[in-house]
Amino acid sequence: MSHTYISDLKNYVGQPVTIKGWLYNKRSSGKIQFLQVRDGTGIVQGVLATNDVSPEIFQMCDRLSQESSVIITGLVREDQRAPGGYELTLTNVQLVHLAEPYPIALKEHGIGFLMEQRHLWLRSRKQVAVLKIRAEVIKAIRNFFDSRGFVLVDTPILTPAACEGTTTLFEVGYFDDKAYLTQSGQLYNEATAMALGKVYCFGPTFRAEKSKTRKHLTEFWMVEPEIAYAELDDVMNLAEEFVYTIIRQVLENRPEELKILERDTKPLEKIKLPFPRLSYHELAKLFKEWQHNFADGNDLGAPEETVIGEKFDQPLLVHRFPMKVKAFYMKADPANPEVALCVDVIAPEGYGEIIGGGQREDDLKRLEEKIKEHKLPRAAFEWYLDLRRYGSVPHGGFGLGVERTVAWLCGTEHIRECIPFPRMLYKIYP
Ligand code: 4AD
Ligand code: MG
Repeated sequence: MSHTYISDLKNYVGQPVTIKGWLYNKRSSGKIQFLQVRDGTGIVQGVLATNDVSPEIFQMCDRLSQESSVIITGLVREDQRAPGGYELTLTNVQLVHLAEPYPIALKEHGIGFLMEQRHLWLRSRKQVAVLKIRAEVIKAIRNFFDSRGFVLVDTPILTPAACEGTTTLFEVGYFDDKAYLTQSGQLYNEATAMALGKVYCFGPTFRAEKSKTRKHLTEFWMVEPEIAYAELDDVMNLAEEFVYTIIRQVLENRPEELKILERDTKPLEKIKLPFPRLSYHELAKLFKEWQHNFADGNDLGAPEETVIGEKFDQPLLVHRFPMKVKAFYMKADPANPEVALCVDVIAPEGYGEIIGGGQREDDLKRLEEKIKEHKLPRAAFEWYLDLRRYGSVPHGGFGLGVERTVAWLCGTEHIRECIPFPRMLYKIYP
């Protein structure tokens, strides 16, 4: 049987339609029942009067429990007061499955409980809105790179070596040996960029983050462009245009979802190019001026991200961090070898770092030294060193965390709502 999706009701005013979905909510005033049905594309209210259907159907509807699956048929009416703007005058209701008492009522529940019920919690209006915005962010990401001549490459998930430090590695058995779940596709992307010029990889990445914060997942999605012959300024220009494009596309295409989430979009609307840029050194001086206690020489942490969120209403590009707080592959600034040619993008409103990247060390000797300094197993990096033996060129790129970006755009307090099934410290169910 053909049926209509709720999002298409505007095309069927005055006509009968059939909707297949689940009972979201129900009200009754004796002779009339109001059934709110959701189908994934929206929610519509069906009005059921005793005179319009058989007594059996009317009684059956009276017993309908939340999340029972139903197929409803009725005439579409425009009604500004109805949620979604349309109402159905029902002529038939067919029960597909009578749901057991549903654990998630339409009221506030504790987050611990909701996380245990994540497989059901996903059906709620706000969670549906977050997932639609996540899909929009991913669409914007792909479109941005595809339309600029970047080639999508898929880097491996199982890797023999660390990319982002050895403290957050997930180890897995690999036949008689061991391997790690990838922390970043970057190193492999550097190889593919030498083959294809401009590339990006996009996939899940894994970090055994031992800390419990609202910004860390142990499994998250990252998109990573890498460009041959790019220097730090090129990377920064690309990063800001990229972030701006994602924001605009979400504002343009997902206004209803942002409204469901009660996201104040003004702070997003006022973001414009170019974004402010500060070197780490300049930022450290500002922290002093603002009397924010910051140990100069350390990486930025949550307290610094909060201060930046208060002082800047635009995403902030922070470049040239001290070499010693950054990964082994970073290229030193020829003007000051103490600092790396790197950049972090810090989102406003306290959402923190959404991008990390920069220019890569392209000199064989210096890279060999860095691998030694960081006590990394040289043999696992021989192939990576080859990239500096055969036509080495300046190159760079960055990684953007999808869930942090979604959290920011949706205004969700915690990153766990920004991926269908979050994985966090000691948490892997459902
Ligand atoms: O700054 P990171 O560690 O950079 C890299 O992995 C580089 N290899 C990327 C590159 O240059 N190709 O991570 C990049 C981004 C962060 O800015 C953040 O948005 C996200 O990945 N991220 C996380 N998101 C959620 N949970 C975590 N535990 C995350 N760790 C990093
Ligand atoms: Mg980083």
